[in-house]
Amino acid sequence: MTGTAEGIYRGRVSKGLSERAKKFVSSINVDGGILEDDLDGTEAHELMLYEQGILSREELSKILTALEKIREEHKKGKIKLDPKFEDVHEFVESKVISEVGVEIGGKIHTGRSRNDQVALDIRMRLRRELNELSSSLLRLIETILKLAERNIETPMPLFTHIQHAQIGTFGHYLLAQVDILMRDFDRLDECYCRVNLSPLGGCAIGGSSFELDRKRTADILGFDGVVENSLDAVSSRDVVLEAAAIISILMADLSRMAEDLILWSTPEFGYIELSDEYSSTSSAMPQKKNPCTLELIRGKTGGVYGSLFSLLTTMKGLASGYNRDLQETKPPIWRCVDEAKGCVDVLEGVIGTMLVRRERMLGVSSESYALAWDLAEGLVKETGLSFRESHAVVGEVVKDALSSGLTVREITGELIEAAAEKVLGKKIKVDQRVVNTYLDPISSLKQRKTLGSPSPEEVSRMLKRRRGELKEREGKLNKRVKKVEKARGELEKKVKGYISGRGR
Ligand code: ARG
Repeated sequence: MTGTAEGIYRGRVSKGLSERAKKFVSSINVDGGILEDDLDGTEAHELMLYEQGILSREELSKILTALEKIREEHKKGKIKLDPKFEDVHEFVESKVISEVGVEIGGKIHTGRSRNDQVALDIRMRLRRELNELSSSLLRLIETILKLAERNIETPMPLFTHIQHAQIGTFGHYLLAQVDILMRDFDRLDECYCRVNLSPLGGCAIGGSSFELDRKRTADILGFDGVVENSLDAVSSRDVVLEAAAIISILMADLSRMAEDLILWSTPEFGYIELSDEYSSTSSAMPQKKNPCTLELIRGKTGGVYGSLFSLLTTMKGLASGYNRDLQETKPPIWRCVDEAKGCVDVLEGVIGTMLVRRERMLGVSSESYALAWDLAEGLVKETGLSFRESHAVVGEVVKDALSSGLTVREITGELIEAAAEKVLGKKIKVDQRVVNTYLDPISSLKQRKTLGSPSPEEVSRMLKRRRGELKEREGKLNKRVKKVEKARGELEKKVKGYISGRGR
């Protein structure tokens, strides 16, 4: 190592960093998750330097050997990331230099800065995280679709203001969740296109006088292209903000679903029961089975929003170019992806194993005054009343029925005729069969005609389409993942070739 004040970069100063400053500025504690990316990125850079005639064959081989040694030790869990290093980049370079000497090892940073290096590592890890999250998301969608398929004709009340609104089906509810999650997937997919671009070669901020081939390193690492402008490449973190914002929206969606299921698992609803595997028990109350898994999805959403805000606040008003503040963007974005992956996976488990109490849903729906909507529409069709008139008549019927303790199934044609007479002063004729059709949840659902309604026919049609849409997305994601894997495989082969002396 060159003789500097402890550390390979400290030629400019004559003293080492104080112990407390060292600990304070170091990001090494959070850099473990990008060590492998840093090694891949460094190997790609060295290969390119060799191809451009900047490194000799022998230098390349020595450098790659040293880098692979770090990888091996890391795999065996033998690497200790010591906060005496400012970050993983200094750690890797120092290790290589101490392994092969500064004359050769000191060349690995040619035409590179930690600024483009860290921007690269973040994008490499982020694309991997987005792929994992997207793949979990598709698994969740698949599980929900399967459950929806079994509940096309399971009536349940739909709620507005958490009051019975109209009768729908559990299958229809689940398909709504599928559509919401598909949009989350699509947002992540669009963001991925912006993430999967290489900033490497942006150097510190203004490029290099070496003939670096930026497109080549991007290609070796499986990127779709480069972040062209060198200032933009090293100092922008908008894609990190974008990913965190999209993940926050996803969490909002997951937490709403969690809340529905929490409510529906209470004895008051009793629509579902969580499996034992996804329920907690009480240390004190022996009868309890608590939906802690779902509650934590709701709870962790707060942490993810907090991370988004910490990211936005770090970036606000930051002068352009690299500033060390940017280091603080790493922990919150990893928190966002980690929490979201955990929540999506657990929700998949909850939904895939929970018990759906169809009888209970049917029972509640059959007793529900939510059928009043259908009756009001039925009366318009059967009697020629305007909707406002029919609404008034049915309102009166419901009021009467409730005060005389009648269930919705006990409403008769005569009661409706009497109500029409009372509120409209009109004589109408209401066939009891019509009343029965609209006051039965299943037959009433079959009357629904509109696109996207919970009529079993519509739900079946949508379900079939969604299956196709899921396949399409699986294909798209698979292609993305394969591209990165292929690049990684080829890089590994190349590196091995150069190390063993077989490479060109
Ligand atoms: N540890 C730094 C980070 O995470 C790496 C870049 C340091 N660059 C610099 N110019 N000090 O952002």
